[in-house]
Amino acid sequence: MFIVLAVTLVLYLLWRWYLNGILCGLKSLRGPASYPFIGSLMTCYPVSTLMTRLGDMCNIYGKTYKMTIPWTAGIVTIDLDLVEYILTSQATINKSILYIFLKEWLGDGLLLSKSAKWRLRRKTITPTFHFKVLDQFVQVFNKNNQILVQQLQKSIDKQDGAGVVNIAHYVTLAAMDNIVETAMGTSMNSQLNDQSDYVWATKFMTANIYDHIVNPITYLKATYIFTPAYWKERKALKILKEYTMSLIKSRREALSKENKSTLINNNADVETYINDEDFGIKKKTAFLDLLLQTTIDGKPLSDEDIMEEVDTFMFEGHDTVSAAISFTLFCIAQHPDIQSKVIEEQRSIFANEPDRNITSEDLKNMTFLEMVIKEGLRFYPSVPSIARNVSEDFHYKDIHVRKGTTIAIPILTIHKDPSNFPNPEKFIPERFLPAEQSKRHAFAFLPFSAGHRNCIGQRFAMMEMKATISKVCRHFELGMTNPPHECILPSAVVLMSKNGVNLTIKTRKW
Ligand code: HEM
Ligand SMILES: *[C@@H]1O[C@H](CO)[C@@H](O)[C@H](O)[C@H]1NC(C)=O
Ligand SMILES: *[C@@H]1O[C@H](CO)[C@@H](O)[C@H](O)[C@H]1NC(C)=O
Ligand SMILES: *[C@@H]1O[C@H](CO)[C@@H](O)[C@H](O)[C@H]1NC(C)=O
Ligand SMILES: *[C@@H]1O[C@H](CO)[C@@H](O)[C@H](O)[C@H]1NC(C)=O
Ligand SMILES: *[C@@H]1O[C@H](CO)[C@@H](O)[C@H](O)[C@H]1NC(C)=O
Repeated sequence: MFIVLAVTLVLYLLWRWYLNGILCGLKSLRGPASYPFIGSLMTCYPVSTLMTRLGDMCNIYGKTYKMTIPWTAGIVTIDLDLVEYILTSQATINKSILYIFLKEWLGDGLLLSKSAKWRLRRKTITPTFHFKVLDQFVQVFNKNNQILVQQLQKSIDKQDGAGVVNIAHYVTLAAMDNIVETAMGTSMNSQLNDQSDYVWATKFMTANIYDHIVNPITYLKATYIFTPAYWKERKALKILKEYTMSLIKSRREALSKENKSTLINNNADVETYINDEDFGIKKKTAFLDLLLQTTIDGKPLSDEDIMEEVDTFMFEGHDTVSAAISFTLFCIAQHPDIQSKVIEEQRSIFANEPDRNITSEDLKNMTFLEMVIKEGLRFYPSVPSIARNVSEDFHYKDIHVRKGTTIAIPILTIHKDPSNFPNPEKFIPERFLPAEQSKRHAFAFLPFSAGHRNCIGQRFAMMEMKATISKVCRHFELGMTNPPHECILPSAVVLMSKNGVNLTIKTRKW
């Protein structure tokens, strides 16, 4: 008994000592109560509403407040000057320990890798997002969006020409097909065959992460293995890794047969590589092909390196895009006046050929739709919060932030802050007119984060979102169900509606 007490006391003192190191610089900040060992973990429950509570706490404790979670102390901030400092400083370029649960899947891919490795990888991978590469992906979007429309048409009632759909279901599969084809160069056809193991595995992995973060039993492998989630996760990881690895192997073989000599180090190489294939029929180049030709200091990337990056694209580039598309379509359905304006713009571009394939020039012309998508992302940022680890102490105003501190930036709360966006619960695309944008703090709108570690795929994402929303709107009139569907938004790494995104569709008369 005595020993147990003594050990507990020692552990407690160690814990206090460790946290005090961090907390002593944060005396001027307020925050929720902290208890021995569990810190402020209690405020995280119920988890389903944590995202909104992070925002509510800003109203109680101020724009920057402190919080302790079992392993570390942290601050949460929506103070835009501090946010700018954090996102542009080298001292906060590493991700927080909260991302650890992604590690098994994404390894040291771009999202998670740390300073030196990240810098090299980011520099190496940036050319693969060259506009010439992205432009050739428009035909992939065209193909899959054609299927998307056909699938949606099936749920239209023949009699009254209308139907209710959970649009998120369809869009998620289309986005899956788009990312698999652009990242890995093969067709998955999940829209026509949604029983695929790979689809199940990505769904499970993304849904599982938040349960992990808030459940202390899962922190240690020794206890995690007693939960069913652990075994499911093992199964999912196996499916994901085997699929990616088999594709890498077969593409590497195919490339060595083609005997291509262009190695990629920069933008000019990417152009040569793409133009190389320009004889006769133009072939698509997937991210994977480019990664296979990429060298760092003359050495090609290993299969494991490539797998990490491809898996990272799969994670970052699939759910985020489908959530944004679903919610934007939902917002369009809710606002008939905005829908008319979207259609007006589409008519000016497609004239009397609503079925024609989209070109990358068309996408550039969709300026109003772009504002609608941005307002959609303001309302429903696919990545609702991000977090960093402090590697070097710094001072900001009257706080002294020690290394080891976790800093959380609740993007959703920033987007709903009336001092950045007056009347934040109103959907107003015109907020993103250039003149309006220039009136705001540059860090007030952060769907793709900002600074050094911003989203590398944002132009790709914008093209895919425009192509898909344009296609759906050209074929269908969107409306609200009766009674109007209300999305339930649980806290998650990627914001998604728990009860679907239901709306009505009717064949549009062009
Ligand atoms: C609407 C769609 C998307 C949204 C809202 C989005 C948002 C974000 C955000 C907020 C981050 C920063 C994450 C953090 O700091 O923890 C990020 C990073 C990243 N995104 Fe995206 N993303 C989208 C689409 C994509 C796509 C399509 C791809 C790839 C094909 C992609 C690849 C990445 C990668 C690789 C990173 C890590 C970058 C780095 O740390 O250097 N994203 N994204
Ligand atoms: C980020 O983490 C790595 C590895 O833990 C460390 O070497 C590096 O110094 C950290 N970043 C910065 C900016 O200090
Ligand atoms: C949404 O629509 C789907 C498909 O029509 C239906 O099964 C589901 O019950 C609907 N959900 C809600 C919350 O209305
Ligand atoms: C679209 O853009 C192209 C050039 O980028 C331009 O020639 C064309 O007139 C534009 N069309 C519309 C409808 O704005
Ligand atoms: C659109 O592009 C797809 C794929 O490139 C092609 O199969 C289809 O025939 C095209 N459709 C039209 C109407 O041009
Ligand atoms: C955060 O940074 C500190 C100081 O550099 C380091 O000791 C700690 O291991 C880092 N934590 C994570 C999760 O990277």
